[in-house]
Amino acid sequence: MANILVAGGAGFIGSHTVLALHEAGHHLVVLDNLSNGSSENLLFGELIVGDIRDGALLDRVITDHEIKAVIHFAASIEAGESVKDPMAFYANNVGGSLSLIESMVRNGVRSIVFSSTAAVYGQNEEAETLSEELPKKPINPYGHSKWMVECMLKDTAATGALDAISLRYFNAAGGDPEGRIGERHDPETHLIPLALDAARGARNEVKIFGTDYDTPDGTCIRDYIHVSDLADAHALALHQLLDRQDPSSGQTKAGYYDAFNLGTSRGHSVRDVMNTAKKVTGIDFPVIEDTRRPGDPARLVADATRAKSELKWSPDRSDLTTLMEDAWRFRRTLGN
Ligand code: UFG
Repeated sequence: MANILVAGGAGFIGSHTVLALHEAGHHLVVLDNLSNGSSENLLFGELIVGDIRDGALLDRVITDHEIKAVIHFAASIEAGESVKDPMAFYANNVGGSLSLIESMVRNGVRSIVFSSTAAVYGQNEEAETLSEELPKKPINPYGHSKWMVECMLKDTAATGALDAISLRYFNAAGGDPEGRIGERHDPETHLIPLALDAARGARNEVKIFGTDYDTPDGTCIRDYIHVSDLADAHALALHQLLDRQDPSSGQTKAGYYDAFNLGTSRGHSVRDVMNTAKKVTGIDFPVIEDTRRPGDPARLVADATRAKSELKWSPDRSDLTTLMEDAWRFRRTLGN
């Protein structure tokens, strides 16, 4: 088992991955500036509060803790914000990743798993499901910044300096099945937590952003993926990269790079999500039809065939009812 640096590990997906890696026996060192994350999300691991743009700090953390691999979640994530302040997104997401990659190479850390996103595909609406080789056409600075980091990793891997896997998440949701941690953003903009907030009376209603899309019920379709399934995918990707470090594995020193979609290949409309939230909570909260939110593609559904066959990943908790039950288990415990 290895010492792993989890950059941005105090956020939603990071903290669930820390849980999974702890259970797999790894020692976790979490570096997080707590701009989005919270120490409350961390049940295990050692938290160092700091920024990945601080190269000297990174060098110290990597050498002091004898880090063998990195999982990189540290980023600004709200697509709408990225349109208003692109430079802040490029500074944090691209500048931060460059600083992290440079420190890894300086200190001989060979393996990195990177948090990417379905937003790299942008508007590819002609495709029923999105496969990895489709053109990358991000429609906002957030998507651009993630795609730029993927390019940086691929180019650096090609020099032989490191091995990297990018994981392109579709719509992360759900929460720890035991209800210990869950989804919490400030401000909250994601559909499922907002619906559950309406159910628990923490807000008056949920708005459906657009009912005139070219979809069967007129609302947007997304591929919702359980955060524990995402966490498992990180563990599988990490182990694949760590195996390459083992001299007895027969791997050559050449760098390796690949990117995988993480989704279920099933789409659910906004109305489906509302109905499931009402069924799971048993509460009939008010839903109001509103106009479209700018920048929302009608349909984003993964072709996740390669993650299943090559990473041996199976997203077992991602059916919408299980995912909603797990999200509700945590959300209902929050104070109003
Ligand atoms: N929606 C509503 N009402 C709301 C909030 C959302 O109708 O109050 C709709 C949106 O218009 C969209 C769907 O619900 O059609 C899902 O919206 P979310 O805000 O929950 O998630 P997004 O699909 O916008 O984005 C998420 C992540 C991105 C990531 C993307 C990949 O936030 O970082 O999934 O699919 F890139």
